[in-house]
Amino acid sequence: MTRTPFSQRRTEPYGPPALHRRLQAEQPVAHLDWTERGGDVWTIAKYEDVRAMLSDTRFSSDRSNPLHPGHQAYNPKSHQGRIIEMDPPAHSTQRGRVMGEFTVKKIAALRPSIEQIVDETIDAMIASGDRGDFVDLFSLPVPSTVIAKLLDVPEKDYDFFQDKAGVFADGTAPNEDRQQASMAIIDYIATLVDARIERPGDDIISRQLAAGASREEAIGLGHLLLIAGHETTSNMISLCVMVLLDRPELRRQLDEKPELIPGAVEELLRYFTIAETGGLRLAVEDLEVRGHTIPAGSVVYALTNTANRDPDVFPDPDRIDFTRGARNHVAFGFGPHQCLGQNVARLELVIVLEKLFARLPDLRLTAEVSELPFKEYSNFGIHELPVAW
Ligand code: HEM
Repeated sequence: MTRTPFSQRRTEPYGPPALHRRLQAEQPVAHLDWTERGGDVWTIAKYEDVRAMLSDTRFSSDRSNPLHPGHQAYNPKSHQGRIIEMDPPAHSTQRGRVMGEFTVKKIAALRPSIEQIVDETIDAMIASGDRGDFVDLFSLPVPSTVIAKLLDVPEKDYDFFQDKAGVFADGTAPNEDRQQASMAIIDYIATLVDARIERPGDDIISRQLAAGASREEAIGLGHLLLIAGHETTSNMISLCVMVLLDRPELRRQLDEKPELIPGAVEELLRYFTIAETGGLRLAVEDLEVRGHTIPAGSVVYALTNTANRDPDVFPDPDRIDFTRGARNHVAFGFGPHQCLGQNVARLELVIVLEKLFARLPDLRLTAEVSELPFKEYSNFGIHELPVAW
């Protein structure tokens, strides 16, 4: 039987691919040919079905299973501690152990240090001249410094940490360089963990070790926090700034009513839904969705980007409305793997929007949005955002 070909690629920067929208309207559960990847895929496109699927661990995240669509990225050496690629019971134990570090209250206490990081990054931008690539100057360094703070990386090592994290997150860098950067980060985190085993401090890693995490689990967790929290947040910062500079009426709303900023962050998280592959799973049993039986062993893809434009949940979904109350979006996923660092990401984005335009009122794009190089791999974003200030 010939199946319709599926593609993950976006066809325009401001929304899900046309095919995904069509699937949502006409075939909310579809069995398609995923030629780009090789093999077939079941796609789930309606918001309610996406949430139900992501809540059900029979749609497995275990990347050590060779049938899992993320198996390529699985590395037995760094697997322990990478909760994003685990199922219960290991996932529940390890997530349960670290969850308390990411509560709203704990993260809110980071506000002064994130404000300082944002201010210092703006200072460095100003010192560098009056134009440049916003991704390099701002969007990449801010989240990597925040994670360095979270992991209590000594300040003398920030440049090293930021540099390696930047290469790893740069999709245009040669693959070999990215792999080397990733290995250097793992080695670095391993020395950090060993130092904490020797002399425990008041930081996440020391607390995880004290709560029973093994050395390898602590290394895997540290590495995962960087991978999961750096490029994602960096992309969201760039996209938020891009859309606000491109659509002055949106920026004006925030200038006039800064109290709209938290709602704007939720709405833009919904609107861009950058974690393209966050909804990939493997069915480990025959599973029923909307009357379709998805056989065990199938690759299943929750189209979170399309779910976040579901008109049954978000009326007039292509309109950016800062007062919509979009916090029920699935940009951070849903269910047991829902983003552990979401409160960190939210706080960073809020502080960036509070500070950036106040400190750089003349910030402007120096290229048309249509000319920008968009990313086409696991996280949606832009490689470069030329600006002047
Ligand atoms: C705008 C920024 C971010 C977005 C859009 C985002 C998105 C996501 C998504 C969709 C998932 C679920 C993946 C799945 O179901 O397989 C996830 C999981 C995760 N995220 Fe984020 N994330 C962001 C920022 C962060 C930050 C800043 C951190 C850490 C400081 C972080 C740490 C994690 C971790 C550890 C997981 C795995 C949770 C688990 O498997 O239990 N993320 N993220």
